[in-house]
Amino acid sequence: MQPGRKLSSLFILLTFFSSSLSNTFTITNNCPHTIWPGTLAGSGSPSLATTGFRLDTGQSVKLTTVPGWSGRIWARTGCKFDTTGAGKCQTGDCGGRLECAGNGAAPPTSLFEITFGAGNGQDYYDISMVDGYNLPLLALPRGMYGGACNATGCITDINRGCPKELQVVGGDQNQRVVGCRSACEAFKLDKYCCSGEFANPNTCQPSYYSTIFKKACPKAYSYAFDDGTSTFTCKAYEYDIVFCPNSNGYTLSINFLALSIY
Ligand SMILES: *[C@@H]1O[C@H](CO)[C@@H](O)[C@H](O)[C@H]1NC(C)=O
Repeated sequence: MQPGRKLSSLFILLTFFSSSLSNTFTITNNCPHTIWPGTLAGSGSPSLATTGFRLDTGQSVKLTTVPGWSGRIWARTGCKFDTTGAGKCQTGDCGGRLECAGNGAAPPTSLFEITFGAGNGQDYYDISMVDGYNLPLLALPRGMYGGACNATGCITDINRGCPKELQVVGGDQNQRVVGCRSACEAFKLDKYCCSGEFANPNTCQPSYYSTIFKKACPKAYSYAFDDGTSTFTCKAYEYDIVFCPNSNGYTLSINFLALSIY
């Protein structure tokens, strides 16, 4: 065998092992403004290399994690942090720090949630508006195995059609709607929160409010038991998470892929 061929089959082998032994997220900010993504590992999963960071328009960051990792990723908006990393965000705030360090997102926040399969196990992933909505986002399984997987996301700007009683308005003069609360968060009623006597899929049904979210984003969770149309299963190892996938012409290929999620 020629040395060159041997090297390339070794390379293919290494590529195979490295892609099956680690999982990656590429987080992209396609919004016309800065965002501050946050990450939260589920119990038993290690934290990612960063739990919160600034991401300017057009920037991407790649994070790698271990097989079997579970957790969530979201984006904060309207943040101001001092040099020590203390501060506050209009939406998605996590304990008033740049690094979330184990704190979850304050609702309303659109969430990407995933549990990677260990070994040959499947990945489970979804976009959730159960805790409300702040930004449109798209989750694209990618890489060698991702092509056969379905994208999911919520690419509609729900802040625009948000009912008044669910709106979160920014502090600036324009009084822009920066987030749309879930009915559970806004009214704290068991029938919206799927709690108490409504704590199972038979009694907790879609509501007037969850239907507004579902119509805008049919592939995302609109209430806690919305599993049938909202959980995705595949084996991808690599995921692109794109915030504001539609907001300008900067990523045409992503817009094209996003069409398939309607
Ligand atoms: C992707 O979605 C299509 C249409 O809903 C479905 O038929 C197919 O099984 C899905 N593929 C995977 C890998 O889930």
